[in-house]
Amino acid sequence: MKSSMKIRLLSALSVVVLGAGSAQAQQRATFPDLTTGEAVYQGICQGCHMPDAQGALGAGMYPALANNAKLKVAAYPILVVTRGQKAMPEFGPILTDAQIAAVVAYVRTNFGNTAKDAVTEAQVKAMRPAG
Ligand code: HEC
Repeated sequence: MKSSMKIRLLSALSVVVLGAGSAQAQQRATFPDLTTGEAVYQGICQGCHMPDAQGALGAGMYPALANNAKLKVAAYPILVVTRGQKAMPEFGPILTDAQIAAVVAYVRTNFGNTAKDAVTEAQVKAMRPAG
């Protein structure tokens, strides 16, 4: 990823760590220029999951999203992206419902994944922690 983007991602993630995630902050677009699933993927996700979504082994283990059967049920990737999971950061506080829906739809229909059902903003909203 571009270094300016990396710096913005790191500072946005530190906001998350510092706990500035009120309901209102959650809907403020921290990355307003990332308006499509592809843009969100390239701007944020590929830094860990790699441009070809094959994942990586290095300082940590970044699972491949390519040909990943765990993406078949939309709820799972929505949950992981919105709330995080182990070494995967939570993106709920820094991306809007629309951005998360778009990037989850993007990974589920690219890189060899062939999901047919849509991902909606309502599904993302429902996955956010209450309050
Ligand atoms: C800082 C590195 C990092 C970034 C950035 C990142 N991920 Fe992840 N992601 C991970 C790690 C590490 C895991 C494995 C988590 C675990 O051990 O369960 C993961 C797991 C996942 C999974 C579950 C895969 C599986 O097989 O269980 C999905 C889906 C996912 N990431 C999607 C995304 C999307 C979409 C983005 C962009 C919004 C993204 N990730 C950004 C590190 C990252």
